[in-house]
Amino acid sequence: MEIIRSAGEMQSHAEKIRSSGKRIGVVPTMGYFHEGHTSLIRIARERCDVVVTTIFVNPAQFGTGEDFEQYPRDFERDKALAEEGGTDVIFAPDAEEMYPPGFGTFVVPEDGASILEGQVRPSHFRGVVTVVVKLFHLTKPHIAVFGQKDAQQVFVVRRMIRDLNFDIDLVVAPTIREQDGLAKSSRNLYLTAAERAEAPLLYQALKEAESLAALGERKAEKIRAAVSEVLQRAKLATADYVAVVDPETFREVGELHPPLALVAVAVRFGSARLIDNILISVSSKG
Ligand code: PAJ
Repeated sequence: MEIIRSAGEMQSHAEKIRSSGKRIGVVPTMGYFHEGHTSLIRIARERCDVVVTTIFVNPAQFGTGEDFEQYPRDFERDKALAEEGGTDVIFAPDAEEMYPPGFGTFVVPEDGASILEGQVRPSHFRGVVTVVVKLFHLTKPHIAVFGQKDAQQVFVVRRMIRDLNFDIDLVVAPTIREQDGLAKSSRNLYLTAAERAEAPLLYQALKEAESLAALGERKAEKIRAAVSEVLQRAKLATADYVAVVDPETFREVGELHPPLALVAVAVRFGSARLIDNILISVSSKG
């Protein structure tokens, strides 16, 4: 496994791989791997000749007062897990390499990026999309693997790929969870034991939405109320939002329409902010 820190070196290496006719898969990450990340690496491994895993805690996607400084980092452990998952190249630039002095060009997603996560974290998706565009140019992938865990990120990146004519297949991987349903996340580390004990309520709330829809409930308001009720059992948490959206547009819906609805939640436990979502099949008969 190779470790590349320079943008120029990454780009020329990717060009060489491409011109030898091999398929490149990229897995963009901020490191501190858990099984969610390694599942993405394995998916890329199955589909490509060369797997490039990027590790970069991207300052541009953190707002002021967010956890950029505190964000957990452990390169040696990530290196071992990336290799075990089948990574061929780790691209791990530093912030200066990605944003050298004088950097002044951002890619700004429009609507769909300013609700939910975008509303709570106003410049977040501008930072995500800008770094993803740069990572695509540097790693020249045929496919890119992202996790459904960050559903709005998937929406924004998918639209950017289409809008900016990137010739890249986006592969969306299912959310990997702990046994009790809590979605794996680097930020789970911030939870106290008492908060961790309540955290599975996020998934229970989403499963409640799924059950209601399966029973024929189509009113988003009813679904939202039921989800909020379950979340209120988490005494140490406050909900940032509970939203029912059309996953194609990321607009909030009044009624669930076939084929799919997405229920997304964000909750704060002290300094930890957790997000999760569930895609719900909506049958046309109701
Ligand atoms: P990060 O939070 O490190 O996540 C990297 C990738 O892992 C994302 O595609 C995310 O959706 C996926 N992921 C996280 N938890 C997961 C889980 N439990 N199951 C499955 N996949 C999971 O997302 C980012 O980094 C950044 O915004 C990035 C795209 C790298 C841009 O900086």
